[in-house]
Amino acid sequence: MRIPVIAGNWKMYKTDKEAYELASSLKNRLKDVNSIKIVLCPPFTALSSVKKGIEGSNIHLGAQNMHWEDEGAFTGEISAKMLLSSGCSFVILGHSERRMYFSETNEIINKKLKKALEVGLNPIVCVGERLEEREAGKTEEVVENHLKGAFEELSEKEAKKVVIAYEPVWAIGTGKTASPKQANDVHRFIREKLKGLYSQEVYESKIILYGGSVKPENAKDLLNQVDIDGALVGGASLKTDSFEKIIRSAII
Ligand code: PGA
Repeated sequence: MRIPVIAGNWKMYKTDKEAYELASSLKNRLKDVNSIKIVLCPPFTALSSVKKGIEGSNIHLGAQNMHWEDEGAFTGEISAKMLLSSGCSFVILGHSERRMYFSETNEIINKKLKKALEVGLNPIVCVGERLEEREAGKTEEVVENHLKGAFEELSEKEAKKVVIAYEPVWAIGTGKTASPKQANDVHRFIREKLKGLYSQEVYESKIILYGGSVKPENAKDLLNQVDIDGALVGGASLKTDSFEKIIRSAII
C-alpha cells in the first residue's frame, strides 16, 4: 500500500509572514485529511514560521535544497542537520531548476541524497527530461540517467526511503501538463528500472510523484493513474484553495 504524498514546492515565493498565513490556513482547512502525507516546502527563511503555522497538525515540513557537507566555509549554504533542527523531515533534491540554473549534476545530487539519508531526512529526488530531449525520443534515456546517477551506491535500505518525483521540465510552470498516460508511462518505466536495481519490495513500494503544472482541474486524472502516487506542486501550492483541491483529489 503506497500512501499518497502531496508536496508543495513554494520555490522563491512567500515572506515569512505570508508563509505563516498560508501554512496556518492549510492546517485549518485540512484537519480532516489523514490518509495522505502533506508536505510544505517553503524557502529557508520561512521554515520556522511554517513550522509554527502547522504545529499540532500532521502536515510535514520540507526544504527545497541543502548542502552535502555537515558544516564548513560554504557561504550561503544550509546543511542537512540545520534542516533537521529547523523541523524539516523532507528535502527536495535535484529539482530541474537546480540542475538548470545552479549547475547541479548527478554527482552533486547523489552526494546530497546520501547526506540527507544519513541524517534521517526523507529526500524527494526529481528526475525529468527537457522538451528537446522528449522530442528527440530521449525521455527514457534521460530519466534513467538521472535515476541511476542519483541512486548510485545507495543500499537497499537507503533506496527504500527515497521519494521520486518525475517532473518533465517542459511541463514545469508552463501550464502544459503531461497527459495522464504520458506521465504514467514514465512512472512505470521508473518503477521497472528500480526492479533492476533493487528488490521487488522497493519496486512495489516506491512512491513516485508527478510534477509539472498540476492544477485542481487535472489533479484527479493524474492521481488516478496506477503508477502515480502523488504530486509535487509548484504554482498551485501557493494558494490555499487550489492546493486544498489538489490534496482532496488524492483522497481515494
Ligand atoms: P509547477 O511546478 O507546478 O508550477 O509546474 C512544479 C515544480 O517545479 O515542482
